[in-house]
Amino acid sequence: MVNIKDKVIVITGASSGIGRATATLLAERGAKVVVGARRKENLEELASSITSKGGIVSYQVTDVTNRSDVEYLVKHAVNTYGKVDVMINNAGVMPLSTLDQLKVDEWEKMIDVNIKGVLYGIAAVLPVMQEQGYGHIINTSSTAGHVVEPTAAVYAGTKFAVMAISEGLRKEAAGNIKVTVISPGVTETELGNDITDEVSAAGLKEIRKTALPPEVIANAMAYAIDQPDYVDVSEVLVREKGRI
Ligand SMILES: NC(=O)c1ccc[n+]([C@@H]2O[C@H](COP(=O)([O-])OP(=O)(O)OC[C@H]3O[C@@H](n4cnc5c(N)ncnc54)[C@H](OP(=O)(O)O)[C@@H]3O)[C@@H](O)[C@H]2O)c1
Repeated sequence: MVNIKDKVIVITGASSGIGRATATLLAERGAKVVVGARRKENLEELASSITSKGGIVSYQVTDVTNRSDVEYLVKHAVNTYGKVDVMINNAGVMPLSTLDQLKVDEWEKMIDVNIKGVLYGIAAVLPVMQEQGYGHIINTSSTAGHVVEPTAAVYAGTKFAVMAISEGLRKEAAGNIKVTVISPGVTETELGNDITDEVSAAGLKEIRKTALPPEVIANAMAYAIDQPDYVDVSEVLVREKGRI
């Protein structure tokens, strides 16, 4: 894992689930991780867990719907470690429901976190990486960025948007900056805890019975980062065995 050691890696949505597992794995492999999310106590707990194993970590309370928070997170990484090698725009929410329930506030929340949060991450880190002349931006999409199921119209819309934004960024930034999309299948995390529609919540509980552990997705993140400089992994899509 020579291409992970000493890299400075910023991760949003690191207070639980995939982000937390990714921060833990990358720190174990020698990266300096800078983690952001809203829940300070979770970030503190993650930081002490990483430090207790000899890892290097710094955290910053960050709401990705607030552009200046995301800018500050990236600035904090540069001020602390002098560079940003990898930015993982991973924060996401998934309050599923059918469109006819008109849960417009929840639609807006998904758009704000899942799309605008990713764009704010790109806006914060792109000038830094352009000046460095190198960098790697990883955005978390989903299998819902490929397939649309009932109750997930808006969520899938945000993840299709992440696919499109990432592909555009990849083409524009080709040469200096690598761009990767990680598309997890169903994974055992806190995602969906904010579902207010009982039918959708019950449906998620059912499909979660065969969910992947978040460490599997962390491995996909590490795979994309741990490549030689001349290799750009565009996407890794990971599903549970047997899922159609
Ligand atoms: N789990 C799955 O089955 C699955 C499948 C495909 C894709 N994904 C994607 O994987 C990513 C990670 O989700 P997860 O499954 O690990 O779920 P999770 O355990 O709920 O983690 C979501 C993370 O996003 C953060 N977050 C939410 N709103 C935020 C905001 N406004 N500002 C900053 N951080 C915010 C949460 O932290 P705070 O609440 O502390 O802010 C948390 O750290 C998401 O993009 C999700 O869409 C997950």
